[in-house]
Amino acid sequence: MKKFTAILIIMLTVFTMAFAQAAAETAPAKTYATLAEVKADLKTVTAGKLTVATSPDFAPYEFYAIDANGKPNLAGFDMDLAKYIANFLGLELEVIPMDFDGIILELQTKSCDLGLAGFSPDPTRKEAVDFSDIYYQGGQSFVCLKKNADNFKTLESLNASKTLKVGAQTGSIQVGLAEEFSADTDIVLLTKVTDIIAEVLAGTLDGAYIETAVAAAYAVNYPELFLAVEVPYEEEGSAAAISKGNAALVAGVNMAIAQALADGSMDAFVATANELSSGEIYEGLLD
Ligand code: ARG
Repeated sequence: MKKFTAILIIMLTVFTMAFAQAAAETAPAKTYATLAEVKADLKTVTAGKLTVATSPDFAPYEFYAIDANGKPNLAGFDMDLAKYIANFLGLELEVIPMDFDGIILELQTKSCDLGLAGFSPDPTRKEAVDFSDIYYQGGQSFVCLKKNADNFKTLESLNASKTLKVGAQTGSIQVGLAEEFSADTDIVLLTKVTDIIAEVLAGTLDGAYIETAVAAAYAVNYPELFLAVEVPYEEEGSAAAISKGNAALVAGVNMAIAQALADGSMDAFVATANELSSGEIYEGLLD
């Protein structure tokens, strides 16, 4: 009988421990109903500041616009959204420009709070960072020179020849698109989208995979650029990348995005960015 009781106790203990562990694993992250709750828990890498990393080679999302004095200024709808989010959360904004392929590492090492750089919420990135809700739909395209438009009319034509040189930005989801739709071509990775555009214009690349909204913005300034083929991509849409383990920040950013979408601010940011990016822009191309 004693032995039986002992076994029962052991079994109960093991069962309770397993249950507690399972409960802890499935426990939902804390949810936030109000901005006040968010603010009470909000922690950023520098207290009182929202530190945002971006890659300003990506008009109309983020780029350098030349002002009246000929000075390059960070512009784009991601930058206006960054100001809006900081303001919403009562934080001072600091923007750190860097190459796109460095941003996730900066978020992982907690050097910044957010990445606002037209990020697609790619599932392979979700181990490293969290994502906000979607705030914009950009689409995916293959671009080439207008004079070569006849060579690129279908998705299949993007893989038609081994001699094709096809560009994509290092670290971007466009690398995956190139590997999927141009698997047998010479895929060339470049750090900056502006360099990819410059190489397509120069003819050193036959074409490139670029966000449709970006390709369209550069095509305004460079009419010889042609959006040839629409490319399917499952995780379409842009989200803010957020340093992991910061449920309050995720909730606060999502509240700010919801408000910016509802009150017309986001539409205004996009309109301003499209206008500015059709003016004089800087970043490799026009300096
Ligand atoms: N949406 C693509 C991605 O997440 C490209 C983003 C590139 N952004 C930039 N600022 N260059 O991979």
